[in-house]
Amino acid sequence: MSIESSEQINNLTTQLRDSKTRFRAIFDQTYQFIGLLTPEGIVIEANRSSLTLTGVEEKDVLGKYFWDTPWWTHSKIEQDRLKDAVKRVASGEFVRFQTSHTDSEGQIHYIDFSLKPVIENNKVTMLIPEGRDITDKVEAQNALTQLTEQLEEKVAERTTELSIKNNELTIAMQRIESAMQQLVMAENLASLGALVPGITHEMSTPLGISVTSISHAEQLTQELARQYHEKNLSKNKMLTYLDDMDESIKIASTSLSRAVDLINSFKQVAIDQASEQKRQFVVKNYIEETLLSLHNHIKQTNLSVQLDCDEALSIESYPGMYSQIITNLLMNSLIYAYDKEDEGKIKIQVTKKNKTLELIFSDDGKGIPDNNLSKIFTPFFSTGKEKGGSGLGLSIIHNIVTEKMHGHIECKSQIRKGTQFTITLPI
Ligand SMILES: Nc1ncnc2c1ncn2[C@@H]1O[C@H](COP(=O)(O)OP(=O)(O)OP(=O)(O)O)[C@@H](O)[C@H]1O
Ligand SMILES: [Mg+2]
Repeated sequence: MSIESSEQINNLTTQLRDSKTRFRAIFDQTYQFIGLLTPEGIVIEANRSSLTLTGVEEKDVLGKYFWDTPWWTHSKIEQDRLKDAVKRVASGEFVRFQTSHTDSEGQIHYIDFSLKPVIENNKVTMLIPEGRDITDKVEAQNALTQLTEQLEEKVAERTTELSIKNNELTIAMQRIESAMQQLVMAENLASLGALVPGITHEMSTPLGISVTSISHAEQLTQELARQYHEKNLSKNKMLTYLDDMDESIKIASTSLSRAVDLINSFKQVAIDQASEQKRQFVVKNYIEETLLSLHNHIKQTNLSVQLDCDEALSIESYPGMYSQIITNLLMNSLIYAYDKEDEGKIKIQVTKKNKTLELIFSDDGKGIPDNNLSKIFTPFFSTGKEKGGSGLGLSIIHNIVTEKMHGHIECKSQIRKGTQFTITLPI
């Protein structure tokens, strides 16, 4: 061999060694787990990363079947899976699956594992196993799945709790609604009850007069009968008797008609308050009848009540509601606007303006302080609890005007000047 060719060989050998060293460095330094197997599955190379993972040395794995090395011996299932993979890759296939290994400290690592064939001249000459540690990714994924499951559980729990609460709320709302209805009914009945003393008082006068005239007539008739039996009945006496009788009967009859009228009007107010029937009625008459039923309360004061309303004004509406509005407003003025001996004037003005009816109710009493004015329509607000006020009167009126009659109500008040309610109702 010439010196030249010997030098060439030397150079080539050095280059080859350098290249092997570089390859080895890359092979060992890479973070991936790489090795080399014979087509039968015997380990002929394993890089440093893969050895470090299980804490073994080359001599523990080289020359052994891959599935008998410490990377796989922890699980019979994984060993069988690998054996099957080796067979398939030895016949030219590419196999990839996720597996797990236990490291030298006993910690589980999830590995994205693949096995590739090296094919030379149509023949599989080697197998390259490759593994990538995906523990962080898998754990993050597991944590995410767990979190999602927990969240779903929480959401389901909350949904159940919410629907239970919702049911409870619905039931509570229904109870409140029925309680409100009962209160409204009680208020209706209470204002009906307020009519009773008025009715009794108004009726006692004409009925009393009737009773007196009829007992007078009875006495006259007994006297006449006595004179007749004693054969003492003169023509003059007979004529006087007839005159007296005529007068007594007239008085009794007028008073009884008055009583019948009163009963009819009270009956109508009472029916209207209780039944809320829509019907045609003459507004002025109807308000007068309502005021008559409150006469007993008014006459115990030094207050006058003035009603301005066109006598011919007749509307189709709910008269019971009008009487309830007037009764509540008037009772409020009597109770809250004046002291016992105060003189004052309460005015009710009703005017028809196109398709609306305007009802202005005003008193010239004490007025309502500003900080109360905003609360008067709120249910249960009352400054007269000790006098038996429930604080429902104005809230019911508000409800009647806005909800039932689709109208509007507002209140203006000035201390020591008085209070004015303006109600507008579509007709
Ligand atoms: N004309 C008025 N003058 C002065 N204050 C009034 C007048 N009308 C109402 N108020 C005040 O408004 C409050 C609420 O009135 P509302 O009619 O709603 O309840 P109440 O009269 O106290 O009780 P209820 O009517 O249920 O018996 C009264 O307690 C009173 O303080
Ligand atoms: Mg009231």
